[in-house]
Amino acid sequence: MASDADTTGPPEGSAEAAALRYLTTRDLEEKQTPLPRDLPWSGWRLPVATKLAPGRPAGLEVVAKAPKGPSAGALRRPEARAQLIHTFWHHELQAAELFCWAALRFPDTPEEFRRGLLALCRDEIRHMGLYRDYLADHGVAIGDHPVRDWFWERIPRCTTPRAFVATLGIGFEGGNLDHTRRFAEIFRAHGDERGAELQDKVGREEVAHVRFAWRWFHTFGDGGFDAWAEALPDPLSPLLMRGRPLHRAARRRAGIDEVFLDALETYVGQP
Ligand SMILES: [Fe+2]
Ligand SMILES: [Fe+2]
Repeated sequence: MASDADTTGPPEGSAEAAALRYLTTRDLEEKQTPLPRDLPWSGWRLPVATKLAPGRPAGLEVVAKAPKGPSAGALRRPEARAQLIHTFWHHELQAAELFCWAALRFPDTPEEFRRGLLALCRDEIRHMGLYRDYLADHGVAIGDHPVRDWFWERIPRCTTPRAFVATLGIGFEGGNLDHTRRFAEIFRAHGDERGAELQDKVGREEVAHVRFAWRWFHTFGDGGFDAWAEALPDPLSPLLMRGRPLHRAARRRAGIDEVFLDALETYVGQP
């Protein structure tokens, strides 16, 4: 098996095949379709030299630099809110794909970990559906705005599963607990209760994702805030991974301790 790993893909019907298929497909409907549950893991190994890149539907323009997002004040306009939700849809897409990436990139992790990654992937696809429905009701289709694969440009620098959960899970999904609360308030202030509830719901559901990352970070190794910051691939900094204010209650629900939260809240960067 190992000798022909460079030339053959994963066996049909395996979890690895589903993950690879989801990641690489250029079909928008397939990107919106959850991976089946309980697929068997075949033990197929992604060749180390293989670089995985996400398939992008023809109608979704990827740009090197995304136009600046709307300011909090601009979000009084429904079109600006829809544009922001389009960006959020694409964040969910990248997260879904990157969970597949990690499941393929780290085949030596416990199967429970990789199964968990694909379960999170299904959650992200569901979130994409919620955002897509919101967009449809605002007359916006996926692809009406260009996207930037910001997370894809960064997360694959993680060379270990510990770095992966530190960066995507504790880092970016943790930050999203702060951001969703802030955006829920902004949407609500502009009378967009549906948009606000969507942020509340996604924020609530992301708690389990951060908890998953926190748990596995400590299964893969020891340490608190400093070890976490150390695990982030250059040049990613904790500064990118928190919103203002920190949603401490949500982060606590994810299992993160007070010492870590204090350190994150007061972090000012490398001297
Ligand atoms: Fe999500
Ligand atoms: Fe998530």
